[in-house]
Amino acid sequence: MRENFGSKLGAVLAAAGSAVGLGNIWRFPIETGRNGGAAFILIYIGCIFLIGLPVMLSEFVIGRSSQANTAGAYRKLAPGTQWKWVGRLGVFTGFVIMSYYVVVAGWTIQYAWLALTNQFAGKTAEDFPVIFSQFASNPWQPIVCLVIFVWLTHYVVVKGVTRGIERWSKVLMPMLFILVMGLVIGAVSMPGAKDGITFLLQPDFSKVNGPVVLNAMGQAFYSLSLGMGALCTYASYFNRQTNLARTALNVCVIDTVIALMAGFIIFPAASAAGYHLQSGDIGASLLFITLPNVFQQAFAHLPLLSYVFSLLFYLLVILAALTSTISLHEVVTSYMTEEFGFRRSRAALVETVTCMLLGCICSLSFGPLQHLKLAGMTIFDLFDWTSSNLLLPIGGMFISIFVGWYLKRELVRGELTNNGTLRVRGLRVLIFILRFVAPLAILGIFLNQLHLF
Ligand code: TRP
Repeated sequence: MRENFGSKLGAVLAAAGSAVGLGNIWRFPIETGRNGGAAFILIYIGCIFLIGLPVMLSEFVIGRSSQANTAGAYRKLAPGTQWKWVGRLGVFTGFVIMSYYVVVAGWTIQYAWLALTNQFAGKTAEDFPVIFSQFASNPWQPIVCLVIFVWLTHYVVVKGVTRGIERWSKVLMPMLFILVMGLVIGAVSMPGAKDGITFLLQPDFSKVNGPVVLNAMGQAFYSLSLGMGALCTYASYFNRQTNLARTALNVCVIDTVIALMAGFIIFPAASAAGYHLQSGDIGASLLFITLPNVFQQAFAHLPLLSYVFSLLFYLLVILAALTSTISLHEVVTSYMTEEFGFRRSRAALVETVTCMLLGCICSLSFGPLQHLKLAGMTIFDLFDWTSSNLLLPIGGMFISIFVGWYLKRELVRGELTNNGTLRVRGLRVLIFILRFVAPLAILGIFLNQLHLF
């Protein structure tokens, strides 16, 4: 018998847990900084609701109607066709994302440790870049951290759907929300926070171009966990009473709110510490160079507050990342359990060990392997770029085509209305978006990126 999430709340929190992660707290502020602030955010929100929400609903429909892992789902719904490759692509993408995701997730463990042992105290702006580059380029320290992270994930996944994923999501998600809330209040009330707030609220549309839109869409897919069947896998554990439309809307809203809140922690705090928001300062190193410094400078006279802020912040990032790696892991684990008949613990072990090895390679690309480049990117950057700008949008495009064109309209309607017991409006609009808007938007932005227009 397949397991189900025990409650509606559990289902929403598990899916939201998958969505909310490093994508919100680490990647969203970076993309926002690079792509010009408020204007990017508006486009991003547009992508979330216009394309992300319909694609999420598609994943829900595929998952719950098939009651199978993401590759099995296509086998069941489209037997004898090549659609199963969309599922397999998703499993492959799962490996790729998980492998570099755990590197960054591992760094957060180290930083939580540094915060806990009060090692940021008395450090200045010059010290933080050194601390970070020494740590990240060290051949073994980050690997120890990533191994810890992979095993934390493994532990939860092996426990199963209700006792592992659902139970942990129910604890971790509310904790995360409270922490974020506290940090936002702390950050926006710092003296000098105003520039950061303006940066997030005053759009400058002159900065918007093709790549900015592609980045916004890639970020939307990434942040919502779309395009590789993670939510499809979770939806296969939804019970028959779950309202798919409402669940999807809740997840999109929670995810967007948390991303915005992360922005309202990071940018106000950075401007309070005197950073130039438009410059490269707010780059990839944001979470690990800018922020620890911010926490020190902003509360220079109140070391206890610096301590508490830093510690809570890194704990929060760990929690957010963990609920996401759990969902990445589950895609592969359920695939191997159901398609190859592995025991759950065995299947999980295969994924855990593979990602640990690939993760080590990604991690070393900040140190000994930093000169090894493919297409001008280190292995880590290559994994990140291919998954979010290539594999996820391609997956998302096929998912929307599958539900928009291939699946019977009755099946889609039946899933969305729980066989006629719920009233759901906008079904026509949804199908229209899935048939035309989403695939064409994804394709167009894609070709633009490849400079084919
Ligand atoms: N959405 C997660 C984040 O924002 C990352 C993630 C988890 C993900 N599962 C995924 C991204 C599946 C794409 C696909 O951090």
